[in-house]
Parts: sequence; structure tokens; C-alpha cells
Amino acid sequence: MVDGPALLKARFGIEQPGVEVPDVIAPLLDRRVVRRYTEQAVPDSLLDALLAAAQSAPAKSDLQQYSVVVMRDAPRIKQIADWIGTMDWIATAPVFLVWCGDMRRGQRLCELHDMPHANNNLDTFLNTAVDCSLAMAQFMAAAEAVGLGTCPISYVRGHIERVSPLLGLPSGVYPMAGLTVGWPVFRRPVSMRLPPSVVVHRERYNDNALERDVAAYDGRRREREPTAPGSLKNNDVYPPREGVGWSENVARQLSVPERFGFAAYLRTKGFDLA
Ligand SMILES: Cc1cc2nc3c(=O)[nH]c(=O)nc-3n(C[C@H](O)[C@H](O)[C@H](O)COP(=O)(O)O)c2cc1C
Repeated sequence: MVDGPALLKARFGIEQPGVEVPDVIAPLLDRRVVRRYTEQAVPDSLLDALLAAAQSAPAKSDLQQYSVVVMRDAPRIKQIADWIGTMDWIATAPVFLVWCGDMRRGQRLCELHDMPHANNNLDTFLNTAVDCSLAMAQFMAAAEAVGLGTCPISYVRGHIERVSPLLGLPSGVYPMAGLTVGWPVFRRPVSMRLPPSVVVHRERYNDNALERDVAAYDGRRREREPTAPGSLKNNDVYPPREGVGWSENVARQLSVPERFGFAAYLRTKGFDLA
């Protein structure tokens, strides 16, 4: 029997009376990313089962518009870690997956059947990203279920001009996220989430209580997992200081453009985002 109230308290920092956590979903509430791995190998027989679980995710219209590149070659994984520069632990992962949105397969299938591909547009781009995210999420849940740890790496997009040729990504294919996979050296504490009152809307969208509820969340997070001034976002733009809460750190990050060349990169890969 799982301790549902304790899991909810760990996840949200507040009591959730009336919420009953079924045993089978308890591991999902307890999940977290893992950012350092032992040297123990991940056998292909297991990895392929996890990939099969990933491929079992739903896909828009059954089009299955994503691909995944499996990297096991340590020097190549380290190459990516080196390009990123600030996440050396990536190189401890025995497996690095790169989840890619893939419009190319559909284009090739149209060609194969002598039909035009008439859906090179923003909707298709979004569909590739959604299919890809769902598959990655299902992989992560499966990996956690067998005791493996994972961490998505959006930073592959920060070095897309080098990662893309390293993986030989052709036109119509882009890296959505990397994913480190390995046996955990340790598990970090659960990261506290926004209260459901901010995220879950009943029947109609309503964010009237955002300011109040986020201020309370900032307070709870500051108490449990304060951000060290040195770890704040964009310290080169805003002076680092003690006591910055989650919401201010979000604003510090979102106030500076990130990867503004991504749309241009996608166009070089044949995506028409109109
Ligand atoms: C799409 C995506 C990209 C991410 N990219 C990175 C990354 O580049 N580096 C990293 O250390 N963590 C990355 N993360 C992990 C998040 O930082 C992490 O999920 C978040 O801090 C919450 O922690 P938790 O997953 O343990 O609850 C990413 C997560 C997602 C979903």
C-alpha cells in the first residue's frame, strides 16, 4: 500500500485531502530526473523493450512522425556533453537517445505512392513534436519502472548545427530532445510542482488566483529547495541575489531570447512553418 498523502505532499508541498493515489500510479508521482549514472551497462535486450514501450505511445492519426537515434559510443556521447559544456554528467550515461521529429518518412511514403506531400506546415511540425514527446515520455516511464534513470536534454537544440550532422539527420528531421539513460548513482529529491489550482482548470480557463497561488508556491519552494544565487538564470543580465523564488527565476529565463535561430534551422531542414 503506497502512502498517497506523503507522495502528494512531496510533489506539491501541500496537503491534498480527498485525493486517493492508486498503488499503480504511485511511481509516476514519485518520478524525477537522474543526472549521474553508474558504469553498469544497459543491455540491448532491455533497451529494445523500453523502445518498444515508447513506440506503443499514441501518435496523431497513427502517422508515427518521429524517429529516435540510439547512441552508445562513449566518445560521441562525450562530444555532445563537451559541446554543451555545462553538463559534464551527460558523458556518464551509457546510452544517449536523440528523439527527433520526422516529417521525412511521410514525404517518402507519399513519393512511394506517387502522391504529393501537401502537409508541410506548422500543424505537421507540431504533430511531429507531440508524437515525439509522447514516445519519449513513455520511454521515461518504462525506464523508471525498471530502476533506470533518465534526463531529457533540450540543450541538443542549442548546438543543433553540430548535433544534426553528427547524427546524419536529413531534411525533414530535427532533434527535439536528447535523453540520457543509465543506472542512477543517486536519486535527487522530488521537485515540487505548481499547485493544481494554477494548472488544472475546471470547465473554463481561469487564472484569477495566479498571483496569490504562485506567491505561496514560491514560498514553499524557497523553503524546501532554495536556488543558490550562483545557479539563477541569466546571472550575467540580472544581479544574482539570495531569496529569488521560482517565478522570478522563470521570468529571468524567459526575458532573454533562447534559441531564436530554431525556426531558421527548421527551414533549412525543409520545414515550411506557415
Ligand atoms: C523537454 C525537456 C528538456 C529538458 N532539458 C534539460 C537539459 O537540457 N538539461 C537538464 O539538466 N535537464 C533538462 N530537463 C529536465 C528538467 O530540468 C526537469 O524535468 C525539471 O527540472 C523538473 O525536475 P524533475 O523532472 O526531476 O521533476 C528537460 C526536461 C524536459 C521535459
